[in-house]
Amino acid sequence: MKTELYNAKTQKENGTGVAGRVIRAGGLVVFPTETVYGLGANGLDGEAVAKIFEAKGRPNDNPLILHVAKKSDVRPLWVKIPDTARLLMDEFWPGPLTLVYLKSSIVPDAVTAGLDTVAVRMPEHRTALALIRAAGVPIAAPSANLSGKPSPTRIEHVLEDMDGRVDVMLDGGPCSVGVESTVLSLVGTPTILRPGGVTKEMLESVIGTVRVANAVLNPLGENEVAASPGMKYRHYAPDCEVVVAEGSPRRAASIINREYSLAESEGKNCIIFATEQTKSYYKGKKYVIIGDRDMPSSLCASLFAALRDESGGTDIIFAEAIPAREQGLAYMNRLLRASGFTVLNN
Ligand code: TXA
Ligand code: MG
Repeated sequence: MKTELYNAKTQKENGTGVAGRVIRAGGLVVFPTETVYGLGANGLDGEAVAKIFEAKGRPNDNPLILHVAKKSDVRPLWVKIPDTARLLMDEFWPGPLTLVYLKSSIVPDAVTAGLDTVAVRMPEHRTALALIRAAGVPIAAPSANLSGKPSPTRIEHVLEDMDGRVDVMLDGGPCSVGVESTVLSLVGTPTILRPGGVTKEMLESVIGTVRVANAVLNPLGENEVAASPGMKYRHYAPDCEVVVAEGSPRRAASIINREYSLAESEGKNCIIFATEQTKSYYKGKKYVIIGDRDMPSSLCASLFAALRDESGGTDIIFAEAIPAREQGLAYMNRLLRASGFTVLNN
């Protein structure tokens, strides 16, 4: 298949018009959101949705998120709108928050992987919203990467994985949040299944206590059932090893420097994901500054792009752990998964 690429800024009407028709006709469209690029199909058409799984190589027991253009579009997708959902939608939509609740009968099993719940979100991105409106249906969309790879936050990363596998791509430039949406289940006690740009602290300021699923910061135990099927798969794996160092900035940097020198003496090619606070510790070594430890959102914004850009020709990426609070929780969730939970603390 030949993929048509449109620039969402210069070919605005054209691009979303064509892409909307492709969605209605059962095809696949890559589109930008504020979090990461999505790979979309008509969310009410099981056959169209099946093509998403094929294009990504995604296990079909991992359910998808439905994307809507306005709050009232959720009503037909759930059995009812719980009060907590209403409060959260008013506060955080459009935005990087996905809500999981009991699905209605119009949602195909292909979307939910047979679960009785469905995940829905309203993205905060002009092109995404224009596309959903043009399509006139909710758009089912996972991140637009091959299954297992870091999610794409730049069109060049989408092209690496998806060129020739989809009908149309809309290039909206870099994604601002850089990690996927927060996934919150509203079945029973509100529980974060995947942390993201809307933090636990922000959610709690609106609905009170929110739990964080165990699998967010821990590898899933052998006999443990994942609250969210996505959590059981290897994720965000770049083409090289990733090693995380814990401790104060100074401590983490000294662990990294020691391990870097050791690996280098064995002939390995290494690079360090440094921060504004720690860059001076890494003089004479190869590093990139990926953000500011006091602004975890800056680290989130560049993590996936850096994992892709720096892994070519590299054997090991070293990165510092940061406190897992506010947006640091989303950062550590992605970094730990990218490393396969390879963590050094002394
Ligand atoms: O920011 C995002 O959420 C991006 C953009 C494109 O919107 N989408 C995205 O989709 O990250 P995906 O498919 O890569 O991740 C969806 C996550 C998976 O971990 C999946 O297991 C979980 O949401 N999920 C989806 N439906 C669910 C459900 N009914 N119950 C529990 N978890 C669900
Ligand atoms: Mg994904």
